[in-house]
Amino acid sequence: MAPSLLSALTALLATASVACSLPQNNPLSSAASSSTSTATGAASSTSGAPAATTTAACNNSPELCLRAYNNVTYMGAHDSSFLRDASTGNSIAGNQYFNATVALSAGIRLLQAQVHDSGGALELCHTSCGILDAGTLEAWLAKIKFWMDGHPNEVVTLLLVNSDNKNASDFGAAFEASGISKYGYAPPTSNAATANWPTLQELINANTRLVTFVASVTPSPSYPYLLDEFTYVFETPYDVRSLDDFTCNLDRPSSQSSAASAIAANMMPLMNHFAYTSISADIEIPNAGAIDSTNNPSVTAAGALGTHAQNCTSQWAGKKPVFVLVDFFDRGPAIDTADNLNGIKATGRETPTSSSTSGSISGRLQDRLTSTRAVALLAFLAAALVIV
Ligand SMILES: *[C@@H]1O[C@H](CO)[C@@H](O)[C@H](O)[C@H]1NC(C)=O
Ligand SMILES: *[C@@H]1O[C@H](CO)[C@@H](O)[C@H](O)[C@H]1NC(C)=O
Ligand SMILES: *[C@@H]1O[C@H](CO)[C@@H](O)[C@H](O)[C@H]1NC(C)=O
Ligand SMILES: *[C@@H]1O[C@H](CO)[C@@H](O)[C@H](O)[C@H]1NC(C)=O
Repeated sequence: MAPSLLSALTALLATASVACSLPQNNPLSSAASSSTSTATGAASSTSGAPAATTTAACNNSPELCLRAYNNVTYMGAHDSSFLRDASTGNSIAGNQYFNATVALSAGIRLLQAQVHDSGGALELCHTSCGILDAGTLEAWLAKIKFWMDGHPNEVVTLLLVNSDNKNASDFGAAFEASGISKYGYAPPTSNAATANWPTLQELINANTRLVTFVASVTPSPSYPYLLDEFTYVFETPYDVRSLDDFTCNLDRPSSQSSAASAIAANMMPLMNHFAYTSISADIEIPNAGAIDSTNNPSVTAAGALGTHAQNCTSQWAGKKPVFVLVDFFDRGPAIDTADNLNGIKATGRETPTSSSTSGSISGRLQDRLTSTRAVALLAFLAAALVIV
């Protein structure tokens, strides 16, 4: 272990009691009071069959069917495979309370994850596979494919961070082995501007309902559905430590000089809206304590998701964020802001609930810091240094 990591671990252990006393809110209470889903259950019922008697919804609303892909706002789960749940000992370094397919059932349509090389295999690791490994990319893709099989009217977007510079063949192998490649959307020409991308209904009819961005990858004609993120998407800053610091400025790619120039080039905006909090000089974790403010649909409260989205829409000459990434998507709930931007009332969602065995999150956080949890926190220490 590098000396800097060792000293960081020492610092971490010294601050562990502080970390564990950060204000925590129990996600169970918010799930119970949330009322974003309606009872009609149009296209994404548990049977997976399209509703016969109502107009089928696309991405939870019939009104979205005829919209172009780039004229819809997709709410997204940042670090969707890095969980703060029983599987990680409720790691306070986790970004989400619920996994990626629970997120899809709740209306999330963008899943972001970090992909690393572990002895030649592509794994979903946080920062390093020696620190936290959430399994293979292929296994994760297979679960998403299984969900898409059962929800034939849904368009899903993936954003995979290519942490170890693997090539399109490496990614393509996992997409094919999982079976999800059959849903992959390939634009008519690579490097095409997004102006002429299909509507959701067209993607559904062609059954090319999976849009995959990799940051970054050299496109390969053998895997035309693996799209280089920064050819099509620009992002606002991701390393935000105060709710006052969210902006609508272009952070990446550096090939564009401003958000305005990226929009003029038909790039789709991704608004990062998650905040870190420091638990020591060196250690940052997702700010779960402030999450009800961060993910709030209010369009007037400072730092709120709704306010940030409205600010960006006005700064971007009316172009709404196409992609949004949040931590703890179930809080807010974040999906309300996407519904407001899309101007829809959604149907067919399932509000996430914790299993009865998961117990009190806040109670568990008072537990003695286990080595697993310490290691997960170390991941975050190092995460401050890498692209998220
Ligand atoms: C986007 O969708 C809205 C709502 O249907 C519509 O009014 C608007 O014209 C669309 N924008 C483009 C560029 O097609
Ligand atoms: C999420 O959890 C559910 C319930 O435990 C499970 O069926 C599903 O496979 C999980 N999905 C992922 C992506 O891990
Ligand atoms: C992609 O990388 C793998 C190693 O990860 C290598 O074996 C393969 O030849 C590369 N393929 C291409 C097309 O560059
Ligand atoms: C929104 O814009 C206002 C005015 O420029 C600014 O004070 C505020 O910090 C912004 N809030 C968010 C969340 O973007």
